[in-house]
Amino acid sequence: MIFRREPLISSIILLFLSGLLVLTDGCKHEPDIFFNNNPSISPECNGDTVYFQNDILPLLVSTCATSGCHDAQTGREGVVLTDYNSVMKTAGINVNNPAESKIYKAIMENGDDRMPPSPATPWSQDQIQMLYTWIEQGALNNRCAGDSICDTTNVTFNKDVLPVFETYCLGCHNANNPSGGIDLQNFDNLAVIIDNGSLSGSINFEPGYSPMPKGGNQLGFCERRKIAIWAADTTLTPPPGGGTGHPCDPDTTYFENDVLPLLLGNCATTGCHNQTSHQEGVILTDYTSVMNTGGVKPGNPNGSKLYKVLFGGDMRDDDIMPPPPAPPFTTEQKNIIKNWILQGALNNRCDEDCDTTNVTFSGSVWPIISTRCTGCHTGSGAGGGVHLANYSDVVAAANNGSLMGSIRHEAGYSPMPKNSGKLPDCKINTIQIWINNGMPND
Ligand code: HEC
Ligand code: HEC
Repeated sequence: MIFRREPLISSIILLFLSGLLVLTDGCKHEPDIFFNNNPSISPECNGDTVYFQNDILPLLVSTCATSGCHDAQTGREGVVLTDYNSVMKTAGINVNNPAESKIYKAIMENGDDRMPPSPATPWSQDQIQMLYTWIEQGALNNRCAGDSICDTTNVTFNKDVLPVFETYCLGCHNANNPSGGIDLQNFDNLAVIIDNGSLSGSINFEPGYSPMPKGGNQLGFCERRKIAIWAADTTLTPPPGGGTGHPCDPDTTYFENDVLPLLLGNCATTGCHNQTSHQEGVILTDYTSVMNTGGVKPGNPNGSKLYKVLFGGDMRDDDIMPPPPAPPFTTEQKNIIKNWILQGALNNRCDEDCDTTNVTFSGSVWPIISTRCTGCHTGSGAGGGVHLANYSDVVAAANNGSLMGSIRHEAGYSPMPKNSGKLPDCKINTIQIWINNGMPND
């Protein structure tokens, strides 16, 4: 009887995940399942418990919820792994029989169907075990404190900002008592303090602004970040049809367009800060990892590890990054990191005239090489003896570092394409992404 019922119960669960489900068939040992994106937070981290927000979500976000795979936009095979609700709705979690969970089976699969698919690194035994244990422990939306994890998916005023204002600000900034002329529930007032910078200036304790909350401690990192994200009206999920709907503003530094390419090219490299190496726990492959492990303090570059490590001398906090023999960041590159942090360290991006999603060799890389390089790099007169006439030539140049070194105009390489301007960043990034992806011949 029991054995016939349990699969039935799980399919009922799978069918009705979007709301509150109370099983009313008298099966009292079944827990009520309430799916929501507000984790229950325990102050202490229990070594025997696997926490969704601390342990599982960061892994899903960095290895599965990537663009083109299981992000909200793509949702391959209907599976979205960006947040708790989506995981519970789409990943086929089976708390009665963890090994039968669709996500677990996909990770355990051998060959072409394994997730994440080759050439991505498979999950380690420990990671797989952790997923199993989390499901076995009831697939809860739990979190333990003592970390800097901050859920910035779908930040809204009512969900993320208002509760902070209610706790810390409204007492002095309401309609009856608008200190400094500011009622923080009045959107016209809010628009003014966002536009003139005083909201950000005051909560980040910037010089020239009254520090807020007045007389209190500075808001937490996560609270300030959510306010910054909301204030910038950043679209974390691009509109349907692709793109961001935001053309690039020359005064704004964008994470995806400007910062991430720099990190991917210089820091998130093998042996350093990628998913497998993560020296000192720092992973610089994507926004969530950067924010959770890079010591970024929005609005405060000098207090941010990610920025400080780029310097020697007085700002020195640790060994200079990237470590020699890699060239240090140029002033221009340091300013990209600095301005991005100053502007709130947002997960923002804008539409360039070029698309780096779905980078392939034939569709993205080869068109650049063949139009900009092959001319001088083929046959017996190939410039510097370097051949760039086909796929394997390009792989060889990429493998010995000269391809990126020359097109990035790095010290020690002849700047390429010779005698003409540097390639647009977007084209350089396209080639870097293809290299980071393992240089598939696709
Ligand atoms: C104890 C009362 C009090 C609390 C709590 C408080 N404020 Fe204020 N706030 C004031 C007063 C008074 C002013 C007018 C400037 C001054 O006297 O410092 C002000 C000014 C401001 C300004 C203008 C700052 C400037 O430099 O021009 C902003 C923005 C602001 N508050 C936002 C907030 C936010 C956001 C919070 C909660 C995180 C908050 N305040 C909490 C009393 C308070
Ligand atoms: C106008 C001819 C010309 C073009 C166009 C050109 N190259 Fe070169 N390339 C050369 C010559 C000549 C050398 C030998 C070094 C030198 O004279 O600077 C060279 C050297 C190189 C090297 C070796 C660099 C080193 O010093 O380690 C690489 C790698 C390279 N080119 C890649 C490229 C790539 C990639 C492109 C296209 C983005 C490109 N080249 C476009 C002429 C060219």
